[in-house]
Amino acid sequence: MHIGSYNLKNNLIVAPMAGVTDRPFRQLCRELGAGMAVSEMVSSNSLLWGSEKTKRRANHDGETDPRSVQIAGAEAKMMAEAAKHNADNGAQLIDINMGCPAKKVCNVMAGSALLQNETLVGDILESVVNAVDIPVTLKIRTGWDRENRNAVNIARIAEQSGIQALAIHGRTRACHYKGDAEYDTIRDVKQSVSIPVIANGDINSPEKAKHVLDYTGADAVMIGRAAQGRPWIFREISHFLETGQHLAEPTVAEIRDIMIGHLDNLYNFYGEFTGVRVARKHISWYSKGQAGGASFRNEVNRVDTIKQQLAMTHEFFEKLAQMEELAA
Ligand SMILES: Cc1cc2nc3c(=O)[nH]c(=O)nc-3n(C[C@H](O)[C@H](O)[C@H](O)COP(=O)(O)O)c2cc1C
Repeated sequence: MHIGSYNLKNNLIVAPMAGVTDRPFRQLCRELGAGMAVSEMVSSNSLLWGSEKTKRRANHDGETDPRSVQIAGAEAKMMAEAAKHNADNGAQLIDINMGCPAKKVCNVMAGSALLQNETLVGDILESVVNAVDIPVTLKIRTGWDRENRNAVNIARIAEQSGIQALAIHGRTRACHYKGDAEYDTIRDVKQSVSIPVIANGDINSPEKAKHVLDYTGADAVMIGRAAQGRPWIFREISHFLETGQHLAEPTVAEIRDIMIGHLDNLYNFYGEFTGVRVARKHISWYSKGQAGGASFRNEVNRVDTIKQQLAMTHEFFEKLAQMEELAA
């Protein structure tokens, strides 16, 4: 799979998720088999670029190529400036968000709300593509609502504007996350353009990834929520696509080691106060479905030092690992 001059090691991409796909999580997913990871969205409002949060989002130290940064906004000039700013600060790909239904984004007519206005979409895409000399990609939904599934039109506009890859979440803006993602529109888009198409939405297993690739003809799949607490899903899918066989599930001991490494990286990246708080949601995801997980989460979410959080998490997973060994 190529995006511009970048040759990805496979066709598995980590979906941008605000509050989740920070540098530590992106790096972990890459180590565990993802071919690319898109960063959390950065606002095109330059007033926010100096904020701690935005600077952290733009931190790519030590990240594997290609480093893709997502921008959001509704104003062509501001979006072009945001693209330039991020390219000057180390982004190797710019991804434009027209796929996010969040109120915060839609109220200012950005994210998926833009799909309603095809002329404006064209203006924004052309301005961004012309502003930078790195590849620009686009992420959309299938349309504004079920009556207005205009992804094929948008895809054609994107191709004409010089967009180099297009990710599509198989829901409309009005669907939010309700119902199942549909892949017919993604298949239609794939048949209508010749730029790489990336299918997204509800891909949560190796079989589903294969089905979506086969059904849509897409060049790649993008995975978001299924990677939360399960970043090894990328190597599982990669192995299945290559061999048709299932990779063994990680043991609890391996999950513990992956998670502790992840927590250490979060603490280093955010510092103690924010690091402990960001780590809580990941610990919850890792412990989902494990015996005693609910009461563990209840306890661990109350502590606010690295020392306590690590000790409790280590102890919980250590016990599970011992139980697993005894059962083996
Ligand atoms: C917590 C969360 C944050 C998200 N943030 C963004 C974002 O910043 N930009 C974006 O384009 N999509 C965002 N999305 C949408 C995902 O990239 C993806 O399109 C969606 O979750 C469907 O894929 P999935 O079923 O694999 O999760 C977000 C989704 C979640 C769950």
